[in-house]
Amino acid sequence: MTAQFPAARPRRLRRTPALRRLVAETRLSPAELVLPMFVKEGIDAPQPVVSMPGVYQHTRDSLRKAAHEAVEAGVGGIILFGIPAVKDGEGSAADDPAGIVQLALRDLASDLGDSAVVMTDLCLDEYTDHGHCGILTRSGEIDNDATLARYASIAVAQAAAGSAVLGPSGMMDGQVGAIREALDGAGYTDVAIMGYSAKYSSAYYGPFRDAAECAPQFGDRSTHQQDPANADESLREVFLDLDEGADMVMVKPAGAYLDVVRRVRDAVDVPVAAYQVSGEYAMIEAAAEKGWVDRERTIMESLLSIRRAGADIVLTYWATEVAQSLNA
Ligand code: PBG
Repeated sequence: MTAQFPAARPRRLRRTPALRRLVAETRLSPAELVLPMFVKEGIDAPQPVVSMPGVYQHTRDSLRKAAHEAVEAGVGGIILFGIPAVKDGEGSAADDPAGIVQLALRDLASDLGDSAVVMTDLCLDEYTDHGHCGILTRSGEIDNDATLARYASIAVAQAAAGSAVLGPSGMMDGQVGAIREALDGAGYTDVAIMGYSAKYSSAYYGPFRDAAECAPQFGDRSTHQQDPANADESLREVFLDLDEGADMVMVKPAGAYLDVVRRVRDAVDVPVAAYQVSGEYAMIEAAAEKGWVDRERTIMESLLSIRRAGADIVLTYWATEVAQSLNA
């Protein structure tokens, strides 16, 4: 009888926590995490977002405190979303120098200095009364090119208020080029663009629409956001954005699109971000609240998996908490 011993024993390297730590292929650190934050005009106390326990619509003051806490924990950046008190058809508050995002940006730029990167989401849906990401034609369709002119103006307003990285998220054709041209023309040649390049038309954005009060009043976003059936198309979008001047690209959502994250990472030589969106957050929080999953382990596994798929930067509503626990 021959020896009964297996020739290979992969379990040897899994035996102790120290061994597992030594051979881990992927690591998480606070520096690559970006915290999405909401600031709302006209409230005097932070308002909890019901579908996202632990997430708030901030006042200018509470935003400063929460941003400070994130930066203390070593979070690499924050990305700001604004909710104006008054919305209209053109989303006028979006590029108003006295609009809520611009005011909050000025606060953060002066508070945080160079301790973290201050970024902004650049879109119209939080600012329009109809909740769409662009200007509408009379028949209620999104007018791509009229919308580009609005995005260009918002880009300059955000840059003037101190945003270091703009994240155009509206999925209009030509948006990165239009923004780059406007920024350069206004002298903001150093302001970077992180394209939401492969952004899917996703049900996982549900809770965000409560947080940012931007559910479309009619129709949906499937005429501009990508069809979840497609992955090759995301490479096309990524290359178009790079041609138009994007400095980084993003895949969104993250967890259900890890194949896309990997394909994009393998195809480009710029930093790749992935956005763990509101629905990904809400599902884990809800299941954990019911006691059905171990909250901390599930959060860590979800983030590690996004990194393992190839994301260099991860946008997550858990950024502060996770950074704190990585430091502990
Ligand atoms: C558009 C925007 C959305 C999100 C980020 N930017 C909403 C949408 O496209 O409908 C979703 C983020 C999330 O779900 O966490 N301004």
